[in-house]
Amino acid sequence: MDQTVSFLKPRTTNPATQPELTDALVASVAVKRAQALELLHGAVDEFSEVTFANSFGAEDMVLTDIIATEHLPIEIFSLDTGRLPAETYTLMAETEKRYDMRFKVFFPRAETVEAYVRTHGINAFYESIDLRKACCHMRKVEPLQRALAGKRAWVTGMRAAQSATRSELPVREFDAGNKLEKFSPLADWSEKEVWAYIRLHTVPYNALHDQFYPSIGCAPCTRAIALGEDVRAGRWWWEDPTSKECGLHAKK
Ligand code: ADX
Ligand code: SF4
Repeated sequence: MDQTVSFLKPRTTNPATQPELTDALVASVAVKRAQALELLHGAVDEFSEVTFANSFGAEDMVLTDIIATEHLPIEIFSLDTGRLPAETYTLMAETEKRYDMRFKVFFPRAETVEAYVRTHGINAFYESIDLRKACCHMRKVEPLQRALAGKRAWVTGMRAAQSATRSELPVREFDAGNKLEKFSPLADWSEKEVWAYIRLHTVPYNALHDQFYPSIGCAPCTRAIALGEDVRAGRWWWEDPTSKECGLHAKK
């Protein structure tokens, strides 16, 4: 498996992060913000114990901005896998300052990670899909289960247009795997609308997005994409696009 980081080392800023703010785009962002806000208000009214999974990707920064500026009673948590890029930690700190809030951060269980690394090696996720999935399980899925314990609904920043595995994504559905309601208020947003929101509201964002990283996960499993590639092409790039999900959003 080729482990080299993208041969396309970025020299210019990614144009996708700076869409032209036409009147039509500004108007559609305003409508979609209002719809997302209505959905989130409905989630709080119906379920009260609602939590938002924040990876600090562009979509999640839009939701963070809506939740913070509207003072919605929705807890915000993040899963720190221990392998995140430095830029993500910089953004977490910047976001806490900007919105004067503290995020709830969940870490993997140290003894599980120690046993995995001792047995398989520090970068074993490159060696097989099973080892990759086991790594995602201990670093993301198990901590997610702790983050969702006692909650009745959770919110994600997923969009249907992100990949083949998400094309049917609804704005709300019952998450049978985690046994609670799942809301994806940006399900029908385009990448352009996300970036127009970020520019219009001067929302902080991950510096890697300007370097052709539309989707950011752990550093060793994320790379830059080439123009025209699917937005999730840089995630687990050595795997089949129809199956690459880390297990956070698995259908059961
Ligand atoms: S992933 O499942 O492949 O990692 P992706 O990066 O597209 O997913 O993120 C989809 C949504 O999953 C995010 O909008 C966020 O709600 C949630 N998510 C992903 N990674 C994390 C993380 N590290 N911490 C909290 N939530 C996350
Ligand atoms: Fe492990 Fe990579 Fe999954 Fe992160 S994305 S948890 S490093 S396999």
